[in-house]
Amino acid sequence: MLKGKTVLAGTCGGIALYKVPLLLGRLRDLGADVHVVMTEAATRFVSPLTFQTVTGNPVHTDLFEPPRLWNVEHIALAERADLVVVAPATANILGKAAAGVADDFLSTVLLAARGQVLYVPAMDAAMYAHPAVQRNIALLREFGAEVMEPDRGRLASGLVGPGRYPETERILAACLRLLGPGDLAGRKVVVSAGPTREHLDPVRFLSNPSTGRMGFALAAEARRRSADVVLVSGPTELPPPPEVRVVEVTTAAEMREAVLGEAAGADVVIMAAAVADWRPRERASRKVKKTEGDMELRLVRTPDILAELGRDKGRRVLVGFAAETGDLVENARAKLRAKNLDLIAANPVGQAEDSGFAAVTNRVTLLARDGSVEELPLMTKDEVARTVLDRVVRLLEEV
Ligand code: C5P
Repeated sequence: MLKGKTVLAGTCGGIALYKVPLLLGRLRDLGADVHVVMTEAATRFVSPLTFQTVTGNPVHTDLFEPPRLWNVEHIALAERADLVVVAPATANILGKAAAGVADDFLSTVLLAARGQVLYVPAMDAAMYAHPAVQRNIALLREFGAEVMEPDRGRLASGLVGPGRYPETERILAACLRLLGPGDLAGRKVVVSAGPTREHLDPVRFLSNPSTGRMGFALAAEARRRSADVVLVSGPTELPPPPEVRVVEVTTAAEMREAVLGEAAGADVVIMAAAVADWRPRERASRKVKKTEGDMELRLVRTPDILAELGRDKGRRVLVGFAAETGDLVENARAKLRAKNLDLIAANPVGQAEDSGFAAVTNRVTLLARDGSVEELPLMTKDEVARTVLDRVVRLLEEV
């Protein structure tokens, strides 16, 4: 996805530095050519060897190279970089960059950079709140750089407040947006995820073990490819993917309303939710009293959202999931036809622990409208999401 892109990471001496190799590893995995400039303080927190290993490129520090080189290869690198990401950005580098000071590699590079610059501040809450730091951030934004809002939480100093280094996924999303456009730029993608809950009274419901992982992975991946993403999710424990609009629902009826509403202007709808097929006919407004005898429950069908979308398909690409306990391919093929889908991802459930509900990995077979069947190897749900969206991009070119 990032083939041909150069990312220059400026790393400073903050405790959050130990998290930065994860970000750079992700960028490299996506195909970017990643280079690192470390301040002298940074080299005291993490060895340059760590960064050299994760990026596969030599690391630039102030320690071993004479300053006269600054004007040659490093400036060239700064000019070539599509994105400079400064992480963690200390109060010190924010101050130097805002003032235009160039007294070491990193500050010099920041003056020479031509591409986008992303600062990821991480520091003590009191430092972050200081008017000098806030003024420097405002100035850098005025110069055209993006400065991320830090997370809130417990900080290394023991204080609780804003100043925490954000989750890697959030920083990655910002990097990808600045490096964009991805292959889903300008497209609206609606993804459904998680289970639904069908209540029989305020405290009891019918549901299933879906965690929402597959749908959340699809939403995050679509966003990484620059799509405008809406995630309609039943109850899950997962953090919302960065830069994705999440619509929380509980019942199949609520999911139908949200999905159909969002699908109106969408290019792609992917139903990864495990929607309940039945709901109790009545929902009591108070907890049903326990009695000695058995209880009979009358269930009625819930609306099939995907089938409804298939009936009025338009130019949208429609993708379904089929969780099956047997006859995987035949059942999935029948659903693909019955619901008028472009693609269906069939996965076995209730058989192996490495697949289906709550698993991190999945065994998926992809069936397409043209009759093709592709059995994917055991993959993480993130990898499945990538493969499904590769197919979606191709389908969009065909409609
Ligand atoms: O027919 P079945 O429920 O197995 O089909 C699964 C696919 O249909 C999934 O993509 C699921 O999200 C979707 N679905 C739906 N509305 C329902 C039930 C399933 O959209 N009520």
